[in-house]
Amino acid sequence: MKKNIPPILLFIFSLLSTVFIISCEDNEKIANSDQDQDTIAVVDTVRFGDLTTLFENRCYHCHSEPEYSFYALNLDTYENTMLGSQHGPIVVPFEPEQSLLYTKCSGEHTEGERMPQDDLNFFDDKPEKLQLIYDWIHFGCLE
Ligand code: HEC
Repeated sequence: MKKNIPPILLFIFSLLSTVFIISCEDNEKIANSDQDQDTIAVVDTVRFGDLTTLFENRCYHCHSEPEYSFYALNLDTYENTMLGSQHGPIVVPFEPEQSLLYTKCSGEHTEGERMPQDDLNFFDDKPEKLQLIYDWIHFGCLE
């Protein structure tokens, strides 16, 4: 005698296959979003040139060759910025939290005042500019 598959089993099978298809689609979405993030990380690499407008507007009048250079710190060129201040380098490439350039602006520094000295809350109002300094160091202080 031929056995028929009970309808309830057929129903369960179709349910299971639907769940399977949906979960595959989800995995694909997750894989794609990973890919997007990789692409963003590459595009987001920050170079010194991306900082010059910020430095020019907020730092040059106290830290550049033609104006003042407090603590002998000039931020007017890549070379001068990498030379640092009278105390030595102000950046540790790839380590923003270890870099005076970042901590003096974020307010996490331990000595002296927060920068820019004439507008102490500047980076609270403009977190994206602080992020730019963070990213530049994080990506290795590229020229
Ligand atoms: C109004 C003047 C002024 C402005 C504007 C200013 N600075 Fe300064 N900066 C100083 C003075 C004065 C010091 C030394 C005293 C201190 O550390 O508080 C200093 C110290 C520093 C140091 C620490 C150097 C060391 O070896 O200790 C860093 C880093 C720095 N500034 C970065 C910046 C950055 C980045 C900007 C712009 C976002 C900026 N400063 C804007 C006056 C200024």
